[in-house]
Amino acid sequence: MASSKKKTVFFCKECGNESAKWMGQCPACHAWNSFVEQEVRPAAAGSSRSVAATQASVPTSLSDISLSEEDRVSSGIAELDRVLGGGVVPGSMILVGGDPGIGKSTLLLQACREMAAKGQKLIYISGEESLKQIRMRADRLGEFTGDLKLLCETDLTAIGDILRSERPDIVVIDSIQTMVNAEVSGTPGSVSQVRESTAVLLQLSKSLGISIFIVGHVTKEGTVAGPRILEHMVDTVLYFEGDRHASYRILRGVKNRFGSTNEIGVFEMCEGGLKEVSNPSEYLLSGRPEDASGTVTACSIEGTRPILLEIQALVCQTGFGIPRRQSSGADLNRINLLMAVLEKRLGLKLGMCDAYVNIAGGMRIAEPALDLAIAMAVVSSFMNVPVNSRLLAFGEVGLSGEVRGVSQPEQRIREAAKLGYTECVLPRICAQRVGEIKGIRLYPVDSVRDAIALIKK
Ligand code: TYD
Ligand code: MG
Repeated sequence: MASSKKKTVFFCKECGNESAKWMGQCPACHAWNSFVEQEVRPAAAGSSRSVAATQASVPTSLSDISLSEEDRVSSGIAELDRVLGGGVVPGSMILVGGDPGIGKSTLLLQACREMAAKGQKLIYISGEESLKQIRMRADRLGEFTGDLKLLCETDLTAIGDILRSERPDIVVIDSIQTMVNAEVSGTPGSVSQVRESTAVLLQLSKSLGISIFIVGHVTKEGTVAGPRILEHMVDTVLYFEGDRHASYRILRGVKNRFGSTNEIGVFEMCEGGLKEVSNPSEYLLSGRPEDASGTVTACSIEGTRPILLEIQALVCQTGFGIPRRQSSGADLNRINLLMAVLEKRLGLKLGMCDAYVNIAGGMRIAEPALDLAIAMAVVSSFMNVPVNSRLLAFGEVGLSGEVRGVSQPEQRIREAAKLGYTECVLPRICAQRVGEIKGIRLYPVDSVRDAIALIKK
């Protein structure tokens, strides 16, 4: 009797943890209600290895491995190279995640065009679009000089055979949620399919030395659909983010075995595809009002690059009993905390005020170095006194209202000086470290009180 019943197993949607029975909370990642049921694959089917197996593996001496093989291949797009840590490492797996429609296919097709033009052998495998649709997109992007092979296929066994016979240098899989591993049960996009399909691709990539870009759609919760385990399997994880209604896009590295993480690449979506934005500060500050209260420029370090941002605050009397606090781009808890510090240490009556804080341009930044600029923007709006539009402020604010040092002050100031800023409010300790910088006057401060006093001048 029991054997006629389908055997099922439960997977955690968040981390891929497996369990024989359903559980309310995952013991591994502590996510609630994350277990989904899935049919168990037939025992005879074997593992993912049978699809990908190519040759017997042989141990190699460390000293015999030549490093020149690891030379990176430039993707031809400087902003993408920056996030990858200098280019594509042969034999690596790169996951590109993002909301549907954000531009993942466009970015990868553009990278393919550049790499094909340089003589790389590429195959773009799509499970989402027909050859005609890809051709139409390619036409929008401009001329393709190199030889780019396209393939519409979702069956991994077939893909494995083609990769083994064609031996390309680089492959794009668009997207992992459409791929099917026939040896595993479950519909495409399910946890087990995504996991096993990635395992097959990993085998192919490592055994044949092919670099594989995998496109992964993101769920509403903000992780790549299917298990988080995907992130553990690949070498590099990039997220493509941005407001779909605004034209700029940010490519963020969150994991990189071959380079630094937290690098960002900035793009703008135009009629003819994605355009690189090599000076994001200028771009993010464009359209800034000159003499308005509640706006202060801050500087955040993203990876190795300083980026100037406009912090906007709007503080007004609340119309209801409970004040409303809202943030877009900055951490709301941090804003509440900063407002509590301003109320307690400076005696400002912010308790009955609504406050809206916005990082213009739609960037999302969690760096505490923005604290001082947020505090100054809130006070500037509260008092309705504009802050000098050529002033930069950065520094972390502590609970006693003290202003603490942050990393790389000199880089932040130089970026501002480059864009014509003339004043900078910064923690005293940072000012001592940087000494003097031409063209910019430094105002070292010990507490928010000192910084606020500068607004009134
Ligand atoms: P796409 O790359 O298909 O997104 P994803 O693969 O992440 O789902 O991006 C599609 C969007 O980009 C679509 O809304 C149209 C827009 N787009 C342009 O604005 N200009 C262009 O040249 C192209 C190719 C797309
Ligand atoms: Mg797509």
